Amino acid sequence: MNKLEQSQTPLLSRLMEYAQSGVTPFHMPGHKMGKGAPDQWKEFVGKNVLSIDITEVLGTDDLHEPYDVIKEAQILAAQAFGADETYFLVNGTTCGIQAMIMACCAPDDKIAIPRNAHRSIIGGIILSGAYPVYLDPEVDDTLGIALGITVDTVKQVLDDYPDCKAVLLINPTFHGIASSLKDIVDLAHKREVLVLVDEAHGPHLSFHSQLPISAMASGADACAQSSHKLLGSLTQTSLLHVQGAYIDRERLRAMLRLVQSTSPSYILMASLDAARHQMVQEGKAILQRTIDLAERTREEINRIPGLCCMGQEMIKKPSVAALDPTKLLITVKNLGFTGYQADRILREDYQIQMELADVMNILAMITIGDGIEDVQRLVEALRDLANKNIYKKADDNKGYLKLPSTPLLKIMPREAYLRETAFCKLEEARGKISGELVAPYPPGIPVICPGEEISGEIVDYLLEVRASGIHVQGPADVSLQRIKVIE
Ligand SMILES: Cc1ncc(COP(=O)(O)O)c(C=O)c1O
Repeated sequence: MNKLEQSQTPLLSRLMEYAQSGVTPFHMPGHKMGKGAPDQWKEFVGKNVLSIDITEVLGTDDLHEPYDVIKEAQILAAQAFGADETYFLVNGTTCGIQAMIMACCAPDDKIAIPRNAHRSIIGGIILSGAYPVYLDPEVDDTLGIALGITVDTVKQVLDDYPDCKAVLLINPTFHGIASSLKDIVDLAHKREVLVLVDEAHGPHLSFHSQLPISAMASGADACAQSSHKLLGSLTQTSLLHVQGAYIDRERLRAMLRLVQSTSPSYILMASLDAARHQMVQEGKAILQRTIDLAERTREEINRIPGLCCMGQEMIKKPSVAALDPTKLLITVKNLGFTGYQADRILREDYQIQMELADVMNILAMITIGDGIEDVQRLVEALRDLANKNIYKKADDNKGYLKLPSTPLLKIMPREAYLRETAFCKLEEARGKISGELVAPYPPGIPVICPGEEISGEIVDYLLEVRASGIHVQGPADVSLQRIKVIE
């Protein structure tokens, strides 16, 4: 293998060479490097993109058995992100999380996961057959969001379940909240428990010291990062990093082969190569600009009467070790709007699209792609929203309801997911076993997961959720008239 430099983009460069080589392709994909692509599509996306949409041929390597330019690009990514080994993912962090869990847990092995786990983690539990034990996050009642997980919570769960194989943490959360990851890694490793990290919202962490510490720098065994969410790569691209000797890498690679396509997109993979190159060359500077932009915007928003944008004061909370300043969680409840209403007004009247809305808040992500004029538009629109007061206000700004206690796990999630289910009227579901996950938003914590017993308390809670019109994620019937139960 050639000597590798971070100034290189081995995969992207090889694809460009191939596209310009004058080769006659008798291989996939069918559009033959753009020649057969539909005109409208070709004109819009451009010829260059289509010319590198190729497949495994001589010189373009193989994602599943890399030996050439993909291997080189992955080595450069591992160096850049502080990992021992890195794997390119073309099915998002979702498949990275699933592979990590399947690599570490055989059926019935215990794994500690946050109760506010993203559905990809629940997917990993279902696929692996692992036994989930839950870490309850701290909840902020005034913002209606889940915060981090304290070291004490992890310790308690590991004391209660000494046979836990792994702990899986989120670093940071969608809202930018980071737990004391390093302390948790130290605690888990002392007990020979693996630490896996859902770092979907943290691909930028290793490139700036004002951001929360990354999973790799904390000593975690593996993490999956959505490069597409915050860096310059294309949607669906993520990275899976591993370090140390605890993870069985051969098993991990086998799991990746299971959850990734045998026809991975070279456009996607090349964008990962380019995004790594960009972060190494200019990451610190562009992140500095991004952080400064976000902090200035936060200050301006906090000066608007009726609005509040959480910031570093959150670090006083027991479960919050650090906050990603590039996430702007704007609490609008004091204007008399729900976050959903504010989100809609911003889109329809101001052409501004937020990342997320819930009962009390809207969330703006400030990334390396934003400029001063973008945030000014947001601040001006928010000022208008607060001043004009011409909109119909929320009739009732209830906030969110206090969560019921975590239910009993009666059947393993995998079995519950695969068993026959039937709809049951919510009012009649007490004592039945849930066939699905139901997570009201906020705070995005599932009240019930597949295989858990639906208690009377949960039925009452969900009836209130239904009456308040709070959004729910997960169930087949989001109106919550019915819930899927195990037959
Ligand atoms: C916390 C968290 N984990 C994992 C994922 C899955 O990431 P991806 O969309 O890259 O598959 C998401 C996606 O939104 C997420 O928010």
